[in-house]
Amino acid sequence: MPLTRCCCILSFFVGICSLLRKRYKKRFRVYRFSIVVPVILDFSGLALSYSYLGMAFSKGAKSTIGFLLNRVNHSMCSGHSYCSLAHGEPYIAGVIQTRNLFASQLPSPSLHTTFKRSFSVEVAASEQMNLIRLLRERTSAPIKDVKSALVDSNWDIEAAQKDLRRRGVVLASKKSSRTAAEGLLALAQNESKAAVVELNCETDFVARNEIFQHLALSLARIALSVDSSAEQLSTAVPIGSEYLECLKINLDHPKLSGETTVQNAITEVAAMVGENVKLRRGIQLSTSAHGVVSSYLHTSPQPGLGRVAGVLTLEVEDNNVPLDALQEVGSQLGMHIVASKPLFLSRELVSNEAIESEREILKSQAELSGKPQMAIEKMVEGRLRKYFEEVVFMEQRFVVNDTINVKSLLSDLSRKVGSPVKIGQFFRMEVGEGIQRLETSSASEVVAQAA
Ligand SMILES: *[C@@H]1O[C@H](CO)[C@@H](O)[C@H](O)[C@H]1NC(C)=O
Ligand SMILES: *[C@@H]1O[C@H](CO)[C@@H](O)[C@H](O)[C@H]1NC(C)=O
Ligand SMILES: *[C@@H]1O[C@H](CO)[C@@H](O)[C@H](O)[C@H]1NC(C)=O
Repeated sequence: MPLTRCCCILSFFVGICSLLRKRYKKRFRVYRFSIVVPVILDFSGLALSYSYLGMAFSKGAKSTIGFLLNRVNHSMCSGHSYCSLAHGEPYIAGVIQTRNLFASQLPSPSLHTTFKRSFSVEVAASEQMNLIRLLRERTSAPIKDVKSALVDSNWDIEAAQKDLRRRGVVLASKKSSRTAAEGLLALAQNESKAAVVELNCETDFVARNEIFQHLALSLARIALSVDSSAEQLSTAVPIGSEYLECLKINLDHPKLSGETTVQNAITEVAAMVGENVKLRRGIQLSTSAHGVVSSYLHTSPQPGLGRVAGVLTLEVEDNNVPLDALQEVGSQLGMHIVASKPLFLSRELVSNEAIESEREILKSQAELSGKPQMAIEKMVEGRLRKYFEEVVFMEQRFVVNDTINVKSLLSDLSRKVGSPVKIGQFFRMEVGEGIQRLETSSASEVVAQAA
């Protein structure tokens, strides 16, 4: 706003005021300041007020005051939402008083709306930037969305924030067609129980987002607190994402709402990061006997988070064996699970279907060699043994020392602590598995990381 123009407008107002003063005698003097100051404060509207007032002035001072009042009323309303206390109480009080005084002199409704509409888009560029910055700080939404929300709500920051949140829902549902195959696993555990959740997003970039990670860790803690009957069962217990989504969560984070449902929290974070965010699954396991829960997270950006998780329970018969003795082997076995991808704990637990289908494959492969039937059967049995060594936990070569298998590792440990040690339950989970094939974590990589 050029300075000359400001001066011009200022003198213009002074002119009007002195004119009005004549009309209302001394009564007006008290209120003059409270009209002129707010209008001048809001520079953005000056150009408009200026031309409009000029027009209106020719029609008489009566309607001019009406416009002024509208203007004042408007700046007061929007001022509520974002102005700092700099304007202070007296400003608003003054405006209200002015309104009462001239209440009978409001212009016709049509003029009123015209004025208000054309005025509402006039927010100074500096103020716009300020609002954009403020709303972005509050929501972390992309600048583009922040701006359009503000424009749509006539720069009312509260309305814009609501709008963003509402659009977050729209955004999330529109996006659900896009695959969310990236993300993180989050783990929460204590001595006797562990829970892992998989939280998906679309890109690796969002998986590194601090709010996304905060949400993942909070979800893992919720999953840990779920009272499943894991203690009585000999397997890890899946916790359905639908079940988890209905639970209450308190995301203790300055940028997020406090207590809400898991589902709302996820929607809120999705709106912030601008991607489809999904809680895919949860799983829990606990020790039913004297033992430890051990875990290993691969590619971990911070404690409790990772892309691949290996979790197991190690149990010892004698209740007097100190649990520390199991701790080290436990975490090595967690790493082993991540690297070697066991599917079954022992050979007896390999399902008949798995054996049959493997046998079929091996048989048709062997038949291609054109050898006699006897030889083929020998070949198949030999290869089946190899298959067990690949998928059965107890038969696998121990990843930390491949001269032994897991079975002999455990018998060594049992001898050391003086009581039989066994693996109770175990599971392996990887981000995006089944959604999209991922080539990750070869055994050598895991060992290299551990070394
Ligand atoms: C003043 O603002 C209030 C609250 O936004 C509104 O209800 C009222 O109609 C406005 N008055 C005038 C004269 O514009
Ligand atoms: C582990 O956490 C679960 C769920 O919060 C709780 O029920 C259990 O008592 C805890 N166990 C220990 C040993 O702290
Ligand atoms: C591997 O295990 C064998 C048998 O227990 C042991 O003799 C050897 O020292 C171990 N090697 C390493 C590197 O730990």
